[in-house]
Amino acid sequence: MNFDKIIIIDFGSQYTKLIARKVRECRVYSEVVPCTRDLSYLSKDISIKGIILSGGPQSVYFKNAPQLGKLILDLNLPILGICYGLQLLSHYFKGKVTGGKTREYGKTKINRVKDSRLFKDVNKNLTVWMSHGDYIKSLPNEFYVTSRSENKLISSFESKKSRIYGVQFHPEVNHTEQGTKIIKNYLFEICKVKHRWQVGSFIDEKVYEIREKVEDEKAICALSGGVDSTVSAYLVNKAIGKNLLCVHIDNGLMRKNESRSIVKYFSKKLNLKFIDASDIFLRRLRGIDDPEKKRKIVGKTFIDVFQQFAKRQGKIKYLIQGTLYPDVVESSSFQGPSVTIKTHHNVGGLPKSLHMKLIEPFRELFKDEVRQIGKMLKIPNEILSRHPFPGPGLAVRVLGEVTKEKLELLREADYIYISNLHKYGLYNKIWQAFCVLLPVSTVGVMGDRRTYERVLALRAVESVDGMTANWFHMPHKAVEEISTNITNNVKGINRVVYDVSNKPPSTIEWE
Ligand code: XMP
Repeated sequence: MNFDKIIIIDFGSQYTKLIARKVRECRVYSEVVPCTRDLSYLSKDISIKGIILSGGPQSVYFKNAPQLGKLILDLNLPILGICYGLQLLSHYFKGKVTGGKTREYGKTKINRVKDSRLFKDVNKNLTVWMSHGDYIKSLPNEFYVTSRSENKLISSFESKKSRIYGVQFHPEVNHTEQGTKIIKNYLFEICKVKHRWQVGSFIDEKVYEIREKVEDEKAICALSGGVDSTVSAYLVNKAIGKNLLCVHIDNGLMRKNESRSIVKYFSKKLNLKFIDASDIFLRRLRGIDDPEKKRKIVGKTFIDVFQQFAKRQGKIKYLIQGTLYPDVVESSSFQGPSVTIKTHHNVGGLPKSLHMKLIEPFRELFKDEVRQIGKMLKIPNEILSRHPFPGPGLAVRVLGEVTKEKLELLREADYIYISNLHKYGLYNKIWQAFCVLLPVSTVGVMGDRRTYERVLALRAVESVDGMTANWFHMPHKAVEEISTNITNNVKGINRVVYDVSNKPPSTIEWE
């Protein structure tokens, strides 16, 4: 692709993805590369305009801590070291980094003590986000200090001779005042990035690339109706038209009317086949109440159904998947993927036994960029702004064993909930909202009769990427109307509760 590029070398910081995100927000293309990878290829790529060294959990003076290779310095590109990255630079040039009593975590004030291009138009005093136990005790000769923290520690430096900069704080974190300005200064004042990242030219280039690659062969795409698979299908359809076969599988675990409306809408735009496989999914889920077992069953059944269908279609050479950049970074992190809290089966992808070659048009993109592409491809806003929906669908929202009857209750309640969120103009303020049917019955009174029916939980969260989330402060009037509508209209539910838990310590889904 014809964009200038920034390479972010990942030393294991929890914030590495955020750096990539921030750089992309400045409309500059960036790639995260684990520090353990052979980086010799970087010298051959003339589109690279700068290198960022991420933070990391280690201490540079430990024997097995990841180090900075001479290779990076020999590239002669501007370097910005962040936190561990700054300490690495100092250590490499024979400065002294040490651990001590003074640690800085969270919001900290710094004072700029010398002008610097990195701080062009940035305030003299600012509050930044720190997260370090080690600090620079003595600076190498080739560097000078540009700012100090309120604790008198070095909070930034730069080289006297070359374009090397270091910041002890995290400009990528929103709590850092003018953090984006500092990153922009690095990108535009120091790296002189010119060829900016543009969604429009991305579409043209991808369409051309896919067309060249696929030629007259066939490709297949599982269309769930979610943002990633829908936009992928539209993009590939633009490239190869009817040679893309889309298939929507109803697993019986979708929301009310969902499969029907997907088929109705997309069959006009795409070469779409529909499979109603709900019976087989529900049969295999019978008697199962463990969440991870449910996930595995749904994942495996999906693969079986998809595979059988694909085999019947004759030779299909390519498989389209809507993998996004955060998944790629997560699975290639040099620390390895994070511990499994829940098995998200769609991240692993479909099995090798399909013998198809993968095309993942959005491997380099973030979700909001995929939404922008969807907009440019004229996909309606209702589809692009849909809340995320998990692969195992309602199976993880009916707690305990999944049955048709429970699914029906949940679907009706969920339909009322989501319709009301639209009515109150709340849907687009919420990152994800849904109902959970609890395996608990409680006593109620309706008319003059005693009832003994199910409890339903409402969940609504605010989040950026689903990794952390806060419960949404829903206006009381809306909660009240939703609760009344549900108990009045869904026979079998006599009590509604609202979930006020954040992630962590809870997760977004209950199972
Ligand atoms: P949790 O519950 O882990 O959810 O806080 C984070 C995000 O992931 C979605 N989720 C899943 N998505 N397969 C998926 O495709 C799954 O098994 C799965 N489990 C959770 C969840 O809806 C939220 O958006």
